[in-house]
Amino acid sequence: MLVHQVEVQRKGGACAKYPSSCIVLQLLDQAGLLKPLHPIVILDLTYGQGIFYYSIKGKAMVYALDIRHLKWVIKPYRFMLKSCEHWREFGLESVDVIVVDPPFSPYKRGWERRKHYEENCSVVKCINEGLKAAEHYSRPLLVHYPFRVQPYGWDVSAEVWFQGWTRLSKLPKPTWFGILRKER
Ligand SMILES: C[S@@+](CC[C@H](N)C(=O)[O-])C[C@H]1O[C@@H](n2cnc3c(N)ncnc32)[C@H](O)[C@@H]1O
Repeated sequence: MLVHQVEVQRKGGACAKYPSSCIVLQLLDQAGLLKPLHPIVILDLTYGQGIFYYSIKGKAMVYALDIRHLKWVIKPYRFMLKSCEHWREFGLESVDVIVVDPPFSPYKRGWERRKHYEENCSVVKCINEGLKAAEHYSRPLLVHYPFRVQPYGWDVSAEVWFQGWTRLSKLPKPTWFGILRKER
């Protein structure tokens, strides 16, 4: 399904302010991962500003990793200023879902292309770490990426193509949000 940013923003409220957080909410809901009575426990390997959690503010406990401490939109429950592969150091016994939104940019310029993103090949590494964490906890992995991600042995249980709009390009390529589950 292709969803346009303007369609999402027309819903108003959180969707107008941070449309990607509405996509995340929709996917978590579709995948049956939201809990009406308890906060959902999320392990996010590439936290950024926590924009993804704006629509589920107060309904999630997010254990977050990032190599940078940005100005948070939503404060994580716990934060480690470390690279994605350090997720085991939280010592969590269980989580509900793992999230990875690795750095990428469809443009050949801008802050997303800065040198530190290229080091350690963060993109592939963090997706692989997300898959490892998902396997470790036997839980789904929510991925945001410019392409559809479906490694061998994994099913896509919910997905959305998101057509964003930015000042850099009026019609950028859509990006993919999906929930992966290990095949049994
Ligand atoms: C696209 S942004 C994530 C945005 C986030 N989903 C949000 O809602 O704000 C990608 C993030 O990955 C982080 N990052 C880059 N390399 C990383 C690494 N090796 N380990 C953890 N985080 C990393 C960047 O610092 C950046 O904040």
